[in-house]
Amino acid sequence: MLNIDLTGRRALVAGVADDGGYGFAIAKSLAEAGAFVSVGTWPPALNIFMNLLERGKMDESRRMSNGELMQFEKIYPLDAAFDTLADAPEDIRGNKRYRDAGDFSIDGLANRIRGDFGEQSLDIVVHSLANGPEVRKPLLDTSRGGYLTAVGVSAYSLVAMVSRLSPLMRRGGSFLSLTYMASEKVIPGYGGGMSSAKAALESDTRTLAFEAGRKYGLRVNTISAGPFASRAASAIGIIDKMVEYCAANSPLPNPLTAEEVGVAAAFLSSPLASGITGTTIYVDKGYHSMGMAVTASGDAGKSE
Ligand SMILES: NC(=O)c1ccc[n+]([C@@H]2O[C@H](COP(=O)([O-])OP(=O)(O)OC[C@H]3O[C@@H](n4cnc5c(N)ncnc54)[C@H](O)[C@@H]3O)[C@@H](O)[C@H]2O)c1
Repeated sequence: MLNIDLTGRRALVAGVADDGGYGFAIAKSLAEAGAFVSVGTWPPALNIFMNLLERGKMDESRRMSNGELMQFEKIYPLDAAFDTLADAPEDIRGNKRYRDAGDFSIDGLANRIRGDFGEQSLDIVVHSLANGPEVRKPLLDTSRGGYLTAVGVSAYSLVAMVSRLSPLMRRGGSFLSLTYMASEKVIPGYGGGMSSAKAALESDTRTLAFEAGRKYGLRVNTISAGPFASRAASAIGIIDKMVEYCAANSPLPNPLTAEEVGVAAAFLSSPLASGITGTTIYVDKGYHSMGMAVTASGDAGKSE
């Protein structure tokens, strides 16, 4: 039978701090397929995450189909706003949630992976993180600082990760990120330059695919996921409305699950997708293909 077999492959999922987002679901799918999975966690969320894990609060969601609990090979502190530790301002480095974390930069992450597993030790990298401090503000009211932070953390971080982690990857390896269709169509309420960041992420996916493909034999893709009420998405303030609207107006009129994104990510990260790179893949119940709302309430066209 054709199946997704990642036995012996090593994966890093950057952007996991609880069991309620796409990163966790992707990590679980990769583990189900047999991969060793490490995660990168934002230092301010690290303690809570470790506590939840240690106190068994995530055991139910970690339970895999074989009955075992998904194990993380490593949990690395990662602040994707910084390429090197020296880039982090003094007040961040001295902050109590950062100061014991060691080198939490992207460079630090690459060095730790090299130290833990050696060269040519990584097959799969998933970028599942974003942050726009002014996401609730319309673009018109967004400050330069807020805009640049959104683009820096949510888009440039992928460039920095591909640049620094590619040398550690085995040929045929895969980078994957998560984007949102606000990059190409207006989603009122998705502000603060986050739409700009996602547009950059999708464009960079194409360019990075070419460059990393030629230089390292690696693939780079992005999943344009439908709305889902994760912790990060709840910060947007209108996520429940977005989920409901999409479910009502999509070809498949029910809410998207994180697991649906997780299994698509496992496929794209696997050798079965060896011919796919530079691409934005929609995992959104088909919402992106619609050009008109079904009805004001979204009822018409709903399957029985
Ligand atoms: N939830 C949605 O509706 C939706 C839709 C399309 C795309 N996405 C994208 O999916 C990805 C994952 O988001 P999610 O919605 O699953 O939420 P999530 O809360 O599970 O993941 C976001 C993660 O980013 C981390 N993070 C924030 N700033 C960081 C930084 N500076 N350095 C390192 N990590 C940082 C957070 O701690 C969190 O773990 C994001 O790229 C998001 O834009 C989400």
